[in-house]
Amino acid sequence: MSSQLTAYIDGCRVGRFTRDGTGAVTLSFDEDWRHAARRMELSLSMPKSRRVHTGAAPLNYLWNLLPDSEAVLQRWGSKFGVSPRNPMALLAHVGMDTAGAVQLADTDVEMLTGPSGNEPISAAEIAAHIRQLRSDPEGWLIPGHDGGYFSLAGAQSKFALARTADTRWSVPTGRAASTHILKPGIRGLDHSDLNEHLSLAAASQLGLDTADSSIEHFEDESVIVVRRYDRVLAEDGTVTRLHQEDIAQATGTHPAGKYQTEGGPGIEMIVNLIRGAHGRDGGSADRLFDAAMFNWAALGTDAHAKNYSLLHSAAEGPRLAPLYDVATALPYTDINNRNTKLAMSFSRHYRQREIEARHVIADAIALSFDVEWAHDRAVAIVDGLADAYSAAAREAKLDGTDAVFAARIVDEAATRTARLRRELQAAAPPSAAPIPRAPTGSARPGTQPRTPTGRFDRNTDTTSGPSLTERPSSEP
Ligand SMILES: Nc1ncnc2c1ncn2[C@@H]1O[C@H](COP(=O)(O)OP(=O)(O)OP(=O)(O)O)[C@@H](O)[C@H]1O
Ligand SMILES: [Mg+2]
Repeated sequence: MSSQLTAYIDGCRVGRFTRDGTGAVTLSFDEDWRHAARRMELSLSMPKSRRVHTGAAPLNYLWNLLPDSEAVLQRWGSKFGVSPRNPMALLAHVGMDTAGAVQLADTDVEMLTGPSGNEPISAAEIAAHIRQLRSDPEGWLIPGHDGGYFSLAGAQSKFALARTADTRWSVPTGRAASTHILKPGIRGLDHSDLNEHLSLAAASQLGLDTADSSIEHFEDESVIVVRRYDRVLAEDGTVTRLHQEDIAQATGTHPAGKYQTEGGPGIEMIVNLIRGAHGRDGGSADRLFDAAMFNWAALGTDAHAKNYSLLHSAAEGPRLAPLYDVATALPYTDINNRNTKLAMSFSRHYRQREIEARHVIADAIALSFDVEWAHDRAVAIVDGLADAYSAAAREAKLDGTDAVFAARIVDEAATRTARLRRELQAAAPPSAAPIPRAPTGSARPGTQPRTPTGRFDRNTDTTSGPSLTERPSSEP
């Protein structure tokens, strides 16, 4: 069973994955799709200019559509009575709703057909599932909705739901698409869901293109809700999928190699990949470098190859997708230390204590970015980081332990960026404008008032509180 799995985009057959007796997987593109797809690619690692792909890329492409958690794969294998080591067999059950527009089915029809629906789910049921995930982080699939399966990468507990124009939540079944991802946070990592929300909001404040997120409450549970940018919701409630792949897929990397230290792609490889793909969006490589600088400044230690994606368009080709799954190690004393490693190096350095601003600027030069632009952006991110987290916390109307947690991020951001700022000053290109004096702790317009250490004033903004999402450092 499942020695063949067919891939569809927009309901059209793209090609067939076949598996031989040795476990080797081959992708053969459908001729019609190759000719009709224009600039759309299923994956940059398997360009449609070649009809048949063998080797590691087809198998790794499929693995990257599945969770990164062995335990979840085991659970799914047992549930569906298939081997957890066979991605095609797993995806035959959960491949109807994945990242991007690809759908995988154990059928061979030209146009994907079959049932499609949305089963309403109440706040009480969502709360019960969140509670269940807190005690059983591998139980991703929602009980009682047997036609509603999804597959998403990552190690954290998560589930995917649809919220359409009428604002009610539903479990998409059959061919239907989810529109939001809900993540209750990482057990043992304080406020990780709030961390993810604040980090996305702070990055957005600083001008980066990010996924929209919010902290939402279901009964007494809170969870980060991330709106899927790979879904477009029409006014009539119809959901269209946009195709995307993560950078591990685009480079043919197995999920186990997603960290650069594990052989995965680093900034240089991704920038070259984006430039070589000749998407019409000329800003993608800049945005990737900008995001890498944000993760350096904010100690986003988990920005590995599966936390960056490309959106594919038939008209435009590939472009960098909005940022998602961003989180800061700053508030965690056990992770925020000088040995902490970033997931991708600057000038071959990974450790916080080794990466100086000059290494970031040196990479910008080596990768032919406009050095003044790179320096200006680094200064803007470093200068604005504490205020951006402060503003994100204010927007989120936090109180209690949530507000204390956010204040710790702001304090730590102020401390770290004071040092980075000095380093940036020393690393300024000769033609760069002088860096103005550092802010002295007074509030800037539109940001939350801060104490001299950068802590925002908790008394000025209170309401109710959330919780968040990040992952521990990748210290290999
Ligand atoms: N807003 C979004 N829109 C579309 N796809 C998304 C979005 N957020 C995440 N994804 C997809 O879902 C996958 C899993 O999400 P995410 O990275 O948040 O999970 P995670 O478990 O926190 O990951 P990790 O193991 O890297 O911490 C991503 O790799 C990406 O393919
Ligand atoms: Mg992730």
